[in-house]
Amino acid sequence: MKSGILWLYVVAVSVALSLPACAQTAGSAVDAEGHQWWQHAVFYELYPRSFADSNNDGVGDLRGIASKLDYLQSLGVDAIWISPCFPSPQVDFGYDVSDYENIDPMYGTLADFDDLAREAKKHNIRIILDFVVNHTSDQHKWFLDSKSSRASAHRDWYIWRDGKGPNQPPNNWVSIFGGSTWKFDPTTNQFYYHIFYPEQPDLNWRNPAVKDAMFDVTRWWYHRGVSGFRLDAVDTLFEDPNLTDNPITGPGKNAFGDPLEESKYNQKLPEVHDILRGLRQVADENNAVLIGETWTADIAELNKYYGKGNNELQLPMDFLFTTVNKLSPAEFRKQIAAVDSASGWPTFVISNHDIIRSYDRYGDGKHNDQIAKLMAALYLTLRGTPIMYYGEEIGMKTTPPVRQEDVKDPIGRRGWPKEKGRDGERTPMQWNDDANAGFSQAKPWLPVPPTYKTHNVAAESKDPNSILEFYRNLLKLRHTNPALLDGGYAALNENDPNVLSYLRTYKNQTVLVALNMSGSVQKVDFQLSHNGFSSAKSLLSTAKSSVSGDTVTLEPYGVFIGQLSK
Ligand code: GLC
Repeated sequence: MKSGILWLYVVAVSVALSLPACAQTAGSAVDAEGHQWWQHAVFYELYPRSFADSNNDGVGDLRGIASKLDYLQSLGVDAIWISPCFPSPQVDFGYDVSDYENIDPMYGTLADFDDLAREAKKHNIRIILDFVVNHTSDQHKWFLDSKSSRASAHRDWYIWRDGKGPNQPPNNWVSIFGGSTWKFDPTTNQFYYHIFYPEQPDLNWRNPAVKDAMFDVTRWWYHRGVSGFRLDAVDTLFEDPNLTDNPITGPGKNAFGDPLEESKYNQKLPEVHDILRGLRQVADENNAVLIGETWTADIAELNKYYGKGNNELQLPMDFLFTTVNKLSPAEFRKQIAAVDSASGWPTFVISNHDIIRSYDRYGDGKHNDQIAKLMAALYLTLRGTPIMYYGEEIGMKTTPPVRQEDVKDPIGRRGWPKEKGRDGERTPMQWNDDANAGFSQAKPWLPVPPTYKTHNVAAESKDPNSILEFYRNLLKLRHTNPALLDGGYAALNENDPNVLSYLRTYKNQTVLVALNMSGSVQKVDFQLSHNGFSSAKSLLSTAKSSVSGDTVTLEPYGVFIGQLSK
């Protein structure tokens, strides 16, 4: 296939794009051009319940994480985002926080956290905590006081309203986790608002005391050595104070049997941006990063989270990328071009604790391991910051429960069988092929997927063709190659239905990435000599992919990453 590009135009665009892509406001730059540490870092989300269990109670913990720092460092991880490890009744597995300034005994102690922070620093790994900003647990002392009387000091820290009538909630809003967003509390004869479970009452961010207390939480952790936060569910912080009913969008029902409605009056309200600007100021004072759980419909919405002049979130996650649910070069091109044109630095995610793992989203059942490498080569070579999810680097498979009685995640219990919950993507990390995959000596809180026999850290470390070794080599390359770190992105061969290819160019360095998203061998003539390059040299490729002259040959789902020379 012939390259159909205007090569010179592409190179010119790439050089222009290689300038630091967003205006940097504060913090100490890591290079003369103003790049910040979080632009060069690879982040890794780990679910603490499932990573490593040091005390053999079947649930992972902080000491377990500390014991795996060598592994994380050797993988090429620069920062770990730990899903909530604060005291919690665990109704939503930690996303119901009952004390923001402590560690749940299930995970250890504050002293364990300090040890982890100290050891992580020695490994050049930063710690990012998960900040559940929208709601607390119903067991948080603020809520216990709030519900105790209409006159309590914390009454207005949450959202209390009278019902429309006996047993009638104040309006029609439905919870993301099913049912009404309102729960009646007989102590004071009012309803309180919860967009998630009833055990997760929403904070009233219109109250300045809430804002002060929550901002102080971030300071408290910054002083303890934390380098930033992943802000949970940020688009749910505010609600219309008039409680206007949401529009109903259709006749059907959702998986929980609730009416279909548009969350017009209780999500994505503009006031959220005032809070994000404030949190950013505190973050900047601490050279910290804010990552956002930002579900957006398009790039215009994503841009709002960067803020004007990039004064809100440095890394709002682009979940639109995860909505490309098939290996389609055209779809990925479209999505990459969109996020590449965003007003801030892109953030790429392909899996997390709430969504099906990329291994299953893209796997065809036959070439899954090859496709796992292909996806790694895609999101780890794009311009932007990648956030990995634990286990992705070994090809862990989403393994949902097969019987309702085994479901742990309450949304799975409630929505079964249409909604099986999120247990499948939260299973224990597969360290080796010993009992319980080396995660714990006790029965793990979720069953280990049968694939642990073949897909585990120990076995894959010994196999030069494993997914893990591919990740290691790729991350090593990414950390040392200026074009991959800072270079502009330019699409190539935009009409190719099988191969996604692009250039990353920084100053006089150009890297070509070619990804075969089809199940057949592909040969692509990149017309190197016509376009001012004398040759391409492989930097990292899958076993049967190579370059000869101007032509790159890619095996089914093969990857070629090469340096171009003039
Ligand atoms: C976020 C978390 C999810 C949690 C929800 C409620 O979406 O990622 O796991 O259940 O917030 O806190």
